[in-house]
Amino acid sequence: MSINEHVHSADSEIPAGRVWPQEWLKSLPLRDGDRDDFLKAMESKAPSSVRVNAAKASFVGASDPVPWHPDAHYLAERPSYTFDPAFHAGAYYPQEASSMLVHALIRHLGLNEKPIQALDLCAAPGGKSTLLRSALHPESFLLANEVVGKRLNLLEENLCKWGLSGYALSQADPSRFSALPAFFDLILVDAPCSGEGMFRKDSESVNHWSPSLVDICAERQARILDAIWPSLQPGGFLIYSTCTFNRKENEDGLSDFCRRSGAQCLQLDLPYPEWVQSEIEGGSALRAFPHRLRGEGFFVAVLQKEGGNKSGPPVRSKRGSKRFSTVRVDALSSDMNYLTDGRGRLFAARPSTVDTLYSIDKALGLITPGPLLGSLHKERFKPGHGLALMAEAIGQNTYNKVNVDHELALKYLRREDIPAPANARGYLLVEYDGFHLGFAKAHRDRLISQYPQNWRIRSQNGCLPEALVSAIDFPKGESMPS
Ligand SMILES: C[S@@+](CC[C@H](N)C(=O)[O-])C[C@H]1O[C@@H](n2cnc3c(N)ncnc32)[C@H](O)[C@@H]1O
Repeated sequence: MSINEHVHSADSEIPAGRVWPQEWLKSLPLRDGDRDDFLKAMESKAPSSVRVNAAKASFVGASDPVPWHPDAHYLAERPSYTFDPAFHAGAYYPQEASSMLVHALIRHLGLNEKPIQALDLCAAPGGKSTLLRSALHPESFLLANEVVGKRLNLLEENLCKWGLSGYALSQADPSRFSALPAFFDLILVDAPCSGEGMFRKDSESVNHWSPSLVDICAERQARILDAIWPSLQPGGFLIYSTCTFNRKENEDGLSDFCRRSGAQCLQLDLPYPEWVQSEIEGGSALRAFPHRLRGEGFFVAVLQKEGGNKSGPPVRSKRGSKRFSTVRVDALSSDMNYLTDGRGRLFAARPSTVDTLYSIDKALGLITPGPLLGSLHKERFKPGHGLALMAEAIGQNTYNKVNVDHELALKYLRREDIPAPANARGYLLVEYDGFHLGFAKAHRDRLISQYPQNWRIRSQNGCLPEALVSAIDFPKGESMPS
């Protein structure tokens, strides 16, 4: 079976010969002579790319690498990820290639070298949160914030599947961050925008576009930047990005912001000549255009706040949170701290981040202080999905494993029962091709799927994107001792 058999071109992809909005064409910040190439690229097929989770897997196929991310690869065709169990195991994340430049910026700024406190302010569905969690120092803390409630479930799902600890989730409007002054060393504002850079992938965004939408977005971006800037530490960095081409939402908005806040826009000299430099207030931004690189439209700039750089993360209040308290759990690794809430839910937190979590919870109220590992009732621990999906082996070793084939893996992911091996008791870890899919509970000759109800696969038909799965390999024995 080849990967081509599973390809479904995105339903909403732009038909050839498309008539574009005239006012949008006039507003494009293209260099002289680039327009025809740009429009041709906008009518061609968007490339597909995935970012592999290096903590869980590696890419072993013939690679077509994304130049600015060491774990990212273009795929010849777009597969149906839904029917790939490795996708649900967090082995990789399908992500548009241009947006992965954030990884290169983190390294360029040296933000991977020491523990920091980071905020992803506009985080759902979590593409950049999972990227940041992998790119930052392992002892760093990442707050993934999403103001729109209905987008939180997907953000939580993607971070949980990614399986790295050291993150928490909040749902706060940017204005509420005034309760956390000078708190973060890094803030990512991947701003809600008019989405022009996605026109090739999503024809709906063309239909929604209008000059007034651009103005509304620019005003909202200004409000977001004004609200969040005080939460940045002196010397800290703010990465601002959009997936739109319009200058009003990019260079113009940032120039105005730099003038009123005193933010310094950095000069970005990265070794990727396919990215177009554009000037802003003494610094520069980088732009992706689909006729110059294999990716969608993207804009990114880095602002720095005046003031000295501290060494190490800032010290936070040691007072406990009312909602969460630390507990000991003998079944789990002592390398991690464990927090419970009033409902007996148990979360993992890296020891160095607990004070930070308490401070944020007090200021904003956290949705979760980390991956949900299970529940604790009268000192009895019931394992949950977050524990199965952790890339760090903090307690999975205590559970027997059951290996399933592709058909059974999909049944499990649909929350259907699967056959139990002989003498199965209690909770078992369901494993597919070396990847943990989650827990199942033995009941007579059946295993009852414990896969989270709201993340289950709903569609019945589908087959395995073989070429993709065979290209992503679990480094057996390295991160998950049996
Ligand atoms: C470009 S998307 C973020 C994509 C995400 N960073 C990723 O890489 O997967 C922008 C996000 O901002 C959120 N948003 C919308 N209005 C907002 C506002 N006023 N303040 C902060 N975030 C907002 C949207 O719900 C959306 O999730």
